[in-house]
Amino acid sequence: MKIGLFSDPHYSRRELSGATRRPRLSYEKIGEALRCFREEKVDLVICLGDLIDSEGSAPQDRDNLSHIAVLLSSSGIETLVIPGNHDLFALDRYRFGVLLNMPLAPLHRRYGDVDVILLDANYFKNGQAYDGRPGDWTDTMIPQTQTEWLKKELESAGDKTYVFSHQLIDYNMEQHHVVENAEDVCRILVDSGKVKGVFQGHYHHGGENEIGGIPFVTLRAMCEGYENSFLTIEV
Ligand SMILES: [Fe+2]
Repeated sequence: MKIGLFSDPHYSRRELSGATRRPRLSYEKIGEALRCFREEKVDLVICLGDLIDSEGSAPQDRDNLSHIAVLLSSSGIETLVIPGNHDLFALDRYRFGVLLNMPLAPLHRRYGDVDVILLDANYFKNGQAYDGRPGDWTDTMIPQTQTEWLKKELESAGDKTYVFSHQLIDYNMEQHHVVENAEDVCRILVDSGKVKGVFQGHYHHGGENEIGGIPFVTLRAMCEGYENSFLTIEV
């Protein structure tokens, strides 16, 4: 099974955001990624989050997400989406889901003998979900209801399980980008003995580590500079 991955397009109409992000170019970059995924005959596409970057106007943000939704569905490939902090600081989860009309994390799907689990760390440490208003992006955790759910899903999963998240579960990375309870979540993944890889976004430089024998891969952000960044994995 082949899975096409991309992360952090941060799409908006702006040419430049911060010093290095090119939000407007991400429309073309997503299109290019989808063309490659089709040529490589991937079975599934997963977006690892931060599809959009807010322009400070909810109607415009909804418009921008709608454009991306049309582009994504034009691939004809099943697509799953993990919302990122930028997505859910711009739009509430309900609107984000309705406009995108694609399955969102948290989610567990089985494809033959491969299990795909998407986590959602868009929660503040006090347990409140990100709700469409700007907030502190370093305040992130996976709530207990979801860690309990994860344990249960891993019990029923096979031994070819792959886990995906926007924020970092890999606690060896830059700490502001790591979820508060990353060590607990890692322990659950390692103890299951079933997880063959974890893929994340959010930290724009990317990176790779190993925890308890599981490779953790952080994708480079698509929005950075003029170069494109996406990845096809065979599982
Ligand atoms: Fe992010």
